[in-house]
Amino acid sequence: MVVGKPLFSEEDIQKKVKELAEQISKDFEGQELVTIGILKGAFMFFADLVRHIKVPLTIDFIVASSYIKESTTGEVKIHYDVREEIEGKNVLLVEDIVDTGITLNYLRERFLLRSPKTLKICALLDKKERRLVDVPIDYKGFEIPNEFVVGYGLDYNNQYRNLPYIAIFKKSI
Ligand code: IMP
Repeated sequence: MVVGKPLFSEEDIQKKVKELAEQISKDFEGQELVTIGILKGAFMFFADLVRHIKVPLTIDFIVASSYIKESTTGEVKIHYDVREEIEGKNVLLVEDIVDTGITLNYLRERFLLRSPKTLKICALLDKKERRLVDVPIDYKGFEIPNEFVVGYGLDYNNQYRNLPYIAIFKKSI
């Protein structure tokens, strides 16, 4: 398996991250935000995004993983949950990539039970073709084809997360 040419360069990503942060700052002007990064994949995107958001915010994390067993049934496991009280607050969930949508949909429903004032979702990548569960993405970076990608937080076997760009991971060149 090899890492192909960058699909999105470091510059492409940083430009998009700033645009997303500007939109979020505009939408929440005069308000406060609770931002929640979904680990591990979103760690780099989350760190870059929050440093460009201009409204007061707090930071928390959730560690989740999903396992697709058969066809459309996916099981999501929470390894670490948020500590912050979110009732009545503006919550922004930050994800690296939406693939089947199972993870985000599960987390979204779980957070909605805690009665936030608003719950918005920001995802850097959207692999739309693979969607099994419809989940609203309020702030979206890039739509990508049905290819496995690595870099900028995204992994293959927990490797390649440190690449500053995003590339398609291929069987051969
Ligand atoms: P979903 O529940 O199927 O939407 O899965 C989302 C999670 O799957 C993401 O947070 C990633 O951890 C992982 N994932 C999906 N597609 C890719 C990919 O192309 N590269 C790396 N991880 C991926």
